[in-house]
Amino acid sequence: MTNNAKKKLFIKTWGCQMNSYDSSRMADILRPLGYGEVDGPEDADMIILNTCHIREKATDKVFSEIGRLKKHKDKKEAEGGKMLMAVAGCVAQAEGDFILQRAPVIDMIFGPQTYHELPEMVLKANGNERVVNTDFPVISKFDQMPDEQQQGAAAFLSIQEGCDKFCTFCVVPYTRGSEYSRTPEGIIQEAHRLVDNGAKEITLLGQNVNAFHGEDKAGNTWGLGRLIEAVAEIDGVKQIRYTTSHPRDVDEELIRAHGDVKKLMPFLHLPVQSGSDKMLKAMNRKHDREFFIDVCNKLRAARSDLVFSSDFIVGFPGETDQDHEDTMQLIRDIGFASAYSFKYSARPGTPAANMTNLVREDVKQARLVELQNLVAEQYLEFNKKTVGTVQPILFERKGRHDGQLQGRTQFYQAINVPANERLIGEIVDVTVTQATANALIGEIKMVNAA
Ligand code: SAH
Ligand code: SF4
Ligand code: F3S
Repeated sequence: MTNNAKKKLFIKTWGCQMNSYDSSRMADILRPLGYGEVDGPEDADMIILNTCHIREKATDKVFSEIGRLKKHKDKKEAEGGKMLMAVAGCVAQAEGDFILQRAPVIDMIFGPQTYHELPEMVLKANGNERVVNTDFPVISKFDQMPDEQQQGAAAFLSIQEGCDKFCTFCVVPYTRGSEYSRTPEGIIQEAHRLVDNGAKEITLLGQNVNAFHGEDKAGNTWGLGRLIEAVAEIDGVKQIRYTTSHPRDVDEELIRAHGDVKKLMPFLHLPVQSGSDKMLKAMNRKHDREFFIDVCNKLRAARSDLVFSSDFIVGFPGETDQDHEDTMQLIRDIGFASAYSFKYSARPGTPAANMTNLVREDVKQARLVELQNLVAEQYLEFNKKTVGTVQPILFERKGRHDGQLQGRTQFYQAINVPANERLIGEIVDVTVTQATANALIGEIKMVNAA
């Protein structure tokens, strides 16, 4: 909590990196109103639950969290104080009215596109008015927010929001709204500020980040490839990443950037969801298996050491054993170094929620385990391959054990290294000594005295 902050703000965040980014921007917006962030809900003056609606039981989780936190509010009010409680994020967007009815303890409910309006919302809520704000305003929140404050050596920069793809299983187009790209100038200014505040790595964020098509002042439209090149020109930026991308939007310019821009890290999270053409079609992913393989090959031709990770959904309606096997084979063929995998869950309001050929829960579970085992095997194999190599590591934070720092390799592997705290925020050459199921262990490479 900063020294001049008089009021305590507790934000709890679920979901994707966009939500984490939004949480830190909410803190930026509330700081001038006297709110400073704290680590716990006790005695807070405001609690914001920044929620995620992507998979099952999202709404239930929010209600049980509200139940748990209510006692802090009751206590504070019994002592004559006031605590504002808010639900933000994608559950707020999707279930705003329902939360309003079911949870009288909640003072503010607002969706992801309204954060710049927080000062007015807080004013109303302080006047004992309950606020619901789930509009998709015409003017972007990005043009109205104060400059960002915090962030460490590995910083996130949101460049694009929303999604027009409408995969049949997904809530994002409904909770975040349609695709919107920020201006290249605004993004580059923010990158400079992040560097001035100590960032060495910048991760460009978007729900569909490579659909980026920002228009500059001269009226030219930039794609992600061009933007990456421009960010790479900033001296203080040493490493660039982007997430999450869609295979359909990997264009020639972006492929070229992977070859030409050394600061662009050789790791790409490229969700495919399934290796079966039939499933890809039912999911409305807008590409087939061959297209995906082709994209990976082109990217690897541009940058031979590129490592891929992906997202998978098992048990989508109609998925047969053969469809699942096609997914397993794709994982073997591409050789993903890591992956997130999920059992399909029907989301209210999405087209797939009306599909009837459901896969049994036990079948889904078995497929998930099988897929996760394969990915874990490939992950360990990849990690083992890096043992003995020297990798530049950006130390981001203290490690789990005393005297250790934690960072990531260029390939996004987590690594723990015995190192002095003063190296947090530095990029240091590390020899990888050991690979475990979850992370690497390394030692700082010693420079021989001449
Ligand atoms: N924009 C990204 C993904 C955003 S959601 C993309 O296009 O791939 C993150 C991941 O959650 C998805 O990749 C998908 O694997 C998973 N997911 C989304 N909706 C889901 C659902 N209804 N059931 C299970 N997993 C889901
Ligand atoms: Fe969801 Fe598909 Fe858009 Fe990704 S591309 S956010 S999965 S609708
Ligand atoms: Fe979740 Fe919303 Fe992100 S649903 S994954 S927080 S866009």
